[in-house]
Amino acid sequence: PLIHHLALLPGDGIGPEIMAVARQVLDHVSRRFDLRFKLEEHLVGGAALDALNEPLPEETLAACARSDGVLLACIGGPKWDNLPREKRPESGLLALRKGLEAFANLRPAKSIPQLIDASPLKPDVVRDADVMVVRELTGDVYFGEPRGLHYIFQGNGEREGLNTMIYTETEVFRVARVAFEVARKRQRKRLCSVDKANVLESSQLWRECVTKMATTYPDVELSHLYVDNAAMQLVRAPRQFDTIVTGNLFGDILSDEASMLVGSLGMLPSASLGDGTYPGVFEPVHGSAPDIAGQDKANPLAMVLSVAMLFRYQLNRSDVADTIDAAVNRVLDAGYRTADIMSGGMRLVGCREMGDAVERAMSE
Ligand code: NAD
Ligand code: IPM
Ligand code: MN
Repeated sequence: PLIHHLALLPGDGIGPEIMAVARQVLDHVSRRFDLRFKLEEHLVGGAALDALNEPLPEETLAACARSDGVLLACIGGPKWDNLPREKRPESGLLALRKGLEAFANLRPAKSIPQLIDASPLKPDVVRDADVMVVRELTGDVYFGEPRGLHYIFQGNGEREGLNTMIYTETEVFRVARVAFEVARKRQRKRLCSVDKANVLESSQLWRECVTKMATTYPDVELSHLYVDNAAMQLVRAPRQFDTIVTGNLFGDILSDEASMLVGSLGMLPSASLGDGTYPGVFEPVHGSAPDIAGQDKANPLAMVLSVAMLFRYQLNRSDVADTIDAAVNRVLDAGYRTADIMSGGMRLVGCREMGDAVERAMSE
């Protein structure tokens, strides 16, 4: 059988706990399907800083680049919060995405009937909500130059923090193309571009490029919203959205907000994709959850669903992806809940027990 080389990056906080569950799922897949995996773990984030004093060691990036797919859990934590920018875990994650040219981040947020009560929003608001956020991932104010934290005038001690919000036409066109392709394959074929074109030149360019691209996709219905309104509409009436395309910063914020359509950040997976030169990075939307790390409380399902996205978007095995998605559905049907999605009458479990339940459900 075919052997897929996967790079596993457990990272920090709850990372190792949820990555263990991802391994369990992969082990099960290799037993059940005609697939074999070679799994190699590598250091990233705080774990890499502690061991090698850099958040993305060269060997990690190289191993990821030559792999058939990258599974990343999460990075960061208070231990590394006061280090200089280039020595922060977050810089490692950004360098990984940049190094693998993963410019399009697909973040699906689809309401799950079994979790309707886990959402703080009213059932009638979130029921059947199904949004796919396509977040640009290698540009924007995250990467713009110049940047820095410096003294403005010598002597008087006044400092400034400086970042540059910038998009080039090439950057907007390539992520817009991904978003239109995604929208085209969905049933409603609607794409909403979110920006701040009433204030920002980078957004003005964004809107012009997306609008231009729309002429190539006459079957997709394009609309535009300002990000402040979009943030409000997303919780007022989420069903109006189908696919959303937006920049790096707005997409970061809106996707965390969209997690409330499902009920927890611990449920949202993502796929970070480039043009195929390098493998994609499959990573939960959430962070390292330092508040619950090491307590076997983390919800591993965002990680598990990210493994499903690896099969769907990278390894071309939607059959495996469907099996994983169905298993998640079944453990929710059976009432298993980690604390973040707990509601009355359900069975509270930890990360490990949830992983075991997913594995069992995969053999059903
Ligand atoms: P966070 O996403 O780590 O946590 C936010 C809240 O959601 C916390 O209460 C946490 O307990 C909860 N949560 C998150 N994932 C969960 C899960 N799987 N199961 C149950 N509950 C979960 O965001 P934060 O607290 O703002 O950031 C913590 C650290 O993570 C920071 O260092 C930040 O930079 C980093 N971070 C990393 C990533 C990433 O690796 N992709 C993403 C976001 C934040
Ligand atoms: C995410 C995170 C990262 C981001 C941080 C940790 C750099 O919030 O993956 O959403 O802002 O992209
Ligand atoms: Mn984020």
